[in-house]
Amino acid sequence: MVFSKEWTQIAMLTDFGASNKLLRKSGDLCILLCRTGQEIVAIQNVCTHLGKPLDGGRIMAGHITCPFHGASFDLRSGRAISGPAVSSLQTYPVQLSNGDVLVLLPQQVKESGP
Ligand code: FES
Repeated sequence: MVFSKEWTQIAMLTDFGASNKLLRKSGDLCILLCRTGQEIVAIQNVCTHLGKPLDGGRIMAGHITCPFHGASFDLRSGRAISGPAVSSLQTYPVQLSNGDVLVLLPQQVKESGP
C-alpha cells in the first residue's frame, strides 16, 4: 500500500474518553483507532476472515479479537494470531502531536484511462 506523504488529523486523544476504541471514517475508509497501553494504533475496521467490522471486538494485551468468530490480531503489525482469519489486517502509521491523532492514509492513485 502506498501512503499519502501528509499526516491527516482524524481524532483527538480526548475523543477516546474512557473507551479504548474509536471509529473514524475517511472517504470510503473505515478506520478503527485502538488504544493499547500508552500507544494508539490504527487498523482497517474489517476482519480478514469474512469482512465483518472489528469495532465490537475486545482489546487485550496488544491484540484485538473479532466479535464474530474469534479471530485475533496483533494490533501493531496487523498479523493474524489465531484463526479462523489467516491474513493480516491493514494497519496505518500513527503519530501523536499535541493531543491530536494523526494518521497516514492510503494515497488515492488515479489511473488515467487510454
Ligand atoms: S469475521 Fe472475524 S473471525 Fe469471522
